[in-house]
Amino acid sequence: MQTLVVGAGGETGRRIIEQLHARGIPTCGMVRSAEAIADLKAQSIRAVTGDVLKPDSLTGPLTGVDVVFCATGARPFKGGSPQEIDYQGTLNLVDQAKAAGVEHFILVSSICVSRLFHPLNLFGGVLYWKREAEKYLQKSGLMYTIVRPGGLTNDPPAEPGILIRGADTLFDGRIDRADVARVCVEAMLDPTARNKILEIINNPSNAPILDQFVQVPVVAG
Ligand SMILES: NC(=O)c1ccc[n+]([C@@H]2O[C@H](COP(=O)([O-])OP(=O)(O)OC[C@H]3O[C@@H](n4cnc5c(N)ncnc54)[C@H](OP(=O)(O)O)[C@@H]3O)[C@@H](O)[C@H]2O)c1
Repeated sequence: MQTLVVGAGGETGRRIIEQLHARGIPTCGMVRSAEAIADLKAQSIRAVTGDVLKPDSLTGPLTGVDVVFCATGARPFKGGSPQEIDYQGTLNLVDQAKAAGVEHFILVSSICVSRLFHPLNLFGGVLYWKREAEKYLQKSGLMYTIVRPGGLTNDPPAEPGILIRGADTLFDGRIDRADVARVCVEAMLDPTARNKILEIINNPSNAPILDQFVQVPVVAG
């Protein structure tokens, strides 16, 4: 199984690719800068350049790939609006993944994407555009898992666990990026996570994450 992590130079993408690599799952990181290429290569992780806003640049990175992890996101003041990166960029990646014969597309999105009047939508409609991209993926015909984390932190893994629920059920809470990465990797390995939306935050009780996938209802597109 060959995997590609798009946004592998970002905070969450980096953790996804490091976890894949640590488990011995063949992977490659798609990044934009020479510095990010060098960072991954220093860890003996394959890296390629590509830009989700340039569809032609995605053909090479997607060749022979079975599973795509998309952890891109617009960053304030670093070029690209939510409409461009979180929406059009993801649409480009979905289209190119489908054309390349990818089997499973795992998208890092966000809780609250269905709440139009959420304060975060004041920042370029970021939640709105993420939800529109989710809908496009859900209708694409690709097998998908949409992982919607709460507010991201770089804290040590949550003790004692992760709360996982279906779409539009969690509206508050935070989660460590390493835990988000863990759920993404488990979602690839666990058939019960296919074609599901998983909302995740730190869990006050210790529920094993694989059992949780089974309880999450399938959400229509
Ligand atoms: N911050 C939060 O509390 C929060 C909460 C819920 C969900 N989320 C979402 O979770 C995801 C991961 O967040 P994060 O903070 O870990 O991400 P991040 O560190 O901001 O990384 C975003 C990545 O997207 C890449 N990217 C941007 N434009 C691109 C393009 N045109 N082509 C290819 N790659 C591109 C960036 O590449 P470069 O390194 O080259 O710039 C970067 O690696 C994002 O979608 C974010 O919106 C965030």
